[in-house]
Amino acid sequence: MTEPASDGWREEDLHCWHVLSPLLLQGGYLPWTTGSMRPAGLVAVCNEIVHGARTQIVECGSGVSTVLLARLLRERRAGGLVALEHDPHWAGVVQDQLHRESLDTIARVLHAPLDGQPPWYTLAGLHEVPDAIDLLIIDGPPAFDPGHGTRREPALPRFDERLVDGATVILDDIARPGERQVIASWEGSTDWRFILDETTGVAIGRRRTRTLSLSRAPQQRNPVFRTKLLGTPA
Ligand SMILES: C[S@@+](CC[C@H](N)C(=O)[O-])C[C@H]1O[C@@H](n2cnc3c(N)ncnc32)[C@H](O)[C@@H]1O
Repeated sequence: MTEPASDGWREEDLHCWHVLSPLLLQGGYLPWTTGSMRPAGLVAVCNEIVHGARTQIVECGSGVSTVLLARLLRERRAGGLVALEHDPHWAGVVQDQLHRESLDTIARVLHAPLDGQPPWYTLAGLHEVPDAIDLLIIDGPPAFDPGHGTRREPALPRFDERLVDGATVILDDIARPGERQVIASWEGSTDWRFILDETTGVAIGRRRTRTLSLSRAPQQRNPVFRTKLLGTPA
């Protein structure tokens, strides 16, 4: 990739970069690119882990996010993360980094080639994914090529049964029309409802029927609000 990693970042990302600094400074170099989640989105994910006490985490699409989140879980001394990755080379790069930082007991990358239509991670490796998931992060497979904008749609139907009561789903890249279409499709066919936050670039979803306590106090539970409290524009 030739573009600077910060291409597409907004002012709030610089602020969130500082918020993330305790995690950025505790390990080795991380290969940030334009494919990496924006710092503002990562803060939203970290806040969900902290405020929601998330411990059983699955991430679709690995990268610097996988390493940073593993560092956070180590700091909290609770939880584990499994990341699905279609690209064998990239799976190796991320897994090596986890190993170098002794984070491989906390997080691991599962190589899962894409298959089917739309192409999605092969089910073969999914038996290694936890049966009970409390946070699903959807940042893969890549969906930026024209005509492939809805490639992330299978994630929710495939994992719905494994998502525990009160679980959270976070979808990245919601500025793109494909991701908007995916959210509309999920909301039309499931009990999941999403809050879209342009500031962080992520949508945060919870089950409508099983989250009565959450709907009573969204400001206390939703990291989107927490992110705004950190000084980003309301
Ligand atoms: C949207 S990216 C996932 C990014 C990841 N969640 C993160 O925030 O770092 C989707 C795919 O792009 C590829 N990818 C991500 N970061 C990359 C990098 N720095 N260099 C090369 N490929 C990368 C991987 O195959 C990944 O599954």
